[in-house]
Parts: sequence; C-alpha cells; structure tokens
Amino acid sequence: MDHAALQAEAVQRIAAAETPDAVEALRVEFLGKQGSISGLLKTLGAMSADERQSAGPRIHALREAVTAALAARKGALQGAAMEARLAAERIDLTLPAPAAPRGSVHPVSQVMDELAEIFADLGFAVATGPEIEDDWHNFTALNMPESHPARAMHDTFYFPDAGPEGRRMLLRTHTSPVQIRTMLKAAKASPGGAPLRIIAPGRVYRSDSDATHTPMFHQVEGLVIDRGIHLGHLKWTLETFLKAFFERDDIVLRLRPSYFPFTEPSVEVDVGWQEVKGPNGSRRMLGGDGDAPGHGWMELLGSGMVNVRVLEAGGYDPSEWQGFAFGIGVDRLAMLKYGMDDLRAFFDGDARWLAHYGFSAFDQPTLSAGVGAISTGAGA
Ligand code: DAH
Repeated sequence: MDHAALQAEAVQRIAAAETPDAVEALRVEFLGKQGSISGLLKTLGAMSADERQSAGPRIHALREAVTAALAARKGALQGAAMEARLAAERIDLTLPAPAAPRGSVHPVSQVMDELAEIFADLGFAVATGPEIEDDWHNFTALNMPESHPARAMHDTFYFPDAGPEGRRMLLRTHTSPVQIRTMLKAAKASPGGAPLRIIAPGRVYRSDSDATHTPMFHQVEGLVIDRGIHLGHLKWTLETFLKAFFERDDIVLRLRPSYFPFTEPSVEVDVGWQEVKGPNGSRRMLGGDGDAPGHGWMELLGSGMVNVRVLEAGGYDPSEWQGFAFGIGVDRLAMLKYGMDDLRAFFDGDARWLAHYGFSAFDQPTLSAGVGAISTGAGA
C-alpha cells in the first residue's frame, strides 16, 4: 500500500475543505471508528513482526500527518470566521448606555437622616431601643401605672406570653421607652445620673388604620437632661430644629398647656401656617404667625419637662437633674415637608411612589442648625 500517496490525497482534501462541518466529515472518514486510517492501524495486529516493523511507523506517521492537517484546517477556518465576524459587526460606542435600574431612599429614611444631621449639630447623639418592649418600659416607668387611662388610648398590640422578667410584652406604642433605657444606662455608669442629649428615631406600633394612621409608623423622641434645664431650652431647641428642618426662618411656634403622664408641665406645640396661592389652587405652607389673617395653627408635637417620677424610674436624682422631652411623628414631618397626603402609601412598597417621592442615594442631607450646641446647665 502506498502510504505516501494516501497521505498526499488526504492532506489535499483536508486543505480543500471549506467549512468546519466538511473538516469534521473528513476526520470521521479517516480517523473515526470506521475510518480508513483506523482500519489500517487495525491491520498491524495480523502482521508478522518484520512486516509490522516497517509498516507500523509509516501508518502512525500517516495518522499524525492527517491529524495535524485536520487541526490546521480547523484553526484556519475558525480564524477566518472570526475575521469575518469582526469585519461585519460594529458597536457604536457613542450610543447612550441602557439605563440601569436605580433604587431610591425612602422619604422616611431621608427625614430620619435629616433629623440626625440637625440634632448632631446641637450636640445630640442617636439612641435606640427594642421594638418589642415590656409594659414597664413602655408604660409604668413613664408614669403610666397599670390602671392609667392613657394606656387604653394607645391601642397596644400585646403578645400572648409574658417576657423573661414576668412583664407583659408588647410592640412599643411610642419611642418614649428609649428615654427610660437611655437614662438607666447612663445612671448605671454614673450613679445619680449624668447629662444626656439624645434623639431616638424609630418604628412604633398601634392598632389603628386610616388615611393618616397606619399600624406601624415612625416617631422621633428627644431627651435632654442636665442641671438647670427649663422650658426656655425646650422652646429654643424645637424652634432651632424646625427652622433647620423646614429650611425657613419664619417658623413660628405656639406652646399650649397639655397633659402627658411623663412630663410636668406638658406642652403641645403648634406651628403657624399660611395659605399660599399657586397655579393649582392654594395650599397651606408652614411659616408665619398663625394668628395673622389667612393663617392658622397646626398641632405638630408633644413635649414637656421630664416628670420627676420618670427621672426616678430612670435612676436619676430629681433634686439634681432636670430635663425636657419631646415626641414627633416622623411620617407626618415627611408629609409636611415633601407634600404627600396619604400615609398608607408610605408603606405600600409601590416602586412608582418611591420613584416619585424617593431620594437619590447621593442626595445626602446637608441641613444644619447653623448654631452652636445648645448651652445648658453648666453656667446656671
Ligand atoms: N409619647 C407621646 C406619644 O406617642 C409623644 C410625646 C409627648 C413624647 C410628650 C414626649 C413628650 O417625649 O414629652 O403620643
């Protein structure tokens, strides 16, 4: 058999193959299980040792040459296909890139960041407490004993089982229990008490639902304790905070006597608004004296001087320390500042609402109280 002629013919046919499929067909024809060269290899077994010594190397050389020719042709065809694709395909790098979906910061988170920013300027730290509370921290320590009527007004979600200390467990109905927890911690570190300046923003829960009430909502609590604290400090702090928050210098507050079990005296704080006419009718804008014509007052928050019993429950000596506290609805603040009118939409998780009312993650609040820290105690 003329192996050289066989090889020449095979190599020539492989070189002439025009597609990868044609190359593959030739591989099967020569080297496949039933292939002609595979057939030749099988004949080696039946040869005498002498025959095999001369035929063996030639058949193996033939197989090597054909294998190499197949690989070379396959490589050449693939290279040509790539060249053709590169020549045919074009990307226009000047086209705008497709928009990547972007999340947004919820108005409640934005407002909480704004609060932390403003109060940090006034020397307040941010404190937190558990949302699953016990009735001692949520009520009793805040001067609302078991039979106190204010307890019933809170529409509390209770848990069926008592807590580890035998206390009734509940979802906190306000952020005020953080006052107690913060005081107890401070009084543990320095017996008798120590100055405190905190805000405590967070979720609170009440069994209530309509356009302005949701079973979960947000409050921010404020607490200042020091020596020589009086109502003037409270008023100045709230005024400074609200001016910075609403970014208006003409915010006017009205303090009304009120009642909360945890403060004495207690004050409810109203803020003046005015009717502003625009292209789509008129709307109420905060700012200005609420008693002026076309103006009015809107109730905004509760506050007062920390009740002596609350100081005691927090481990403070009331003969040495005074304090003021306040509590505000964070969702309400967001609605007033950013113009939403249905609280329920805050918690629907509707991406369209969020796209409309949400904030860019790069939109860091830059609000500042624009004053030094509140000065209290020391000089009094
Ligand atoms: N905890 C009260 C509520 O949820 C709000 C409040 C009123 C908080 C007066 C205070 C305060 O700290 O002094 O209705």
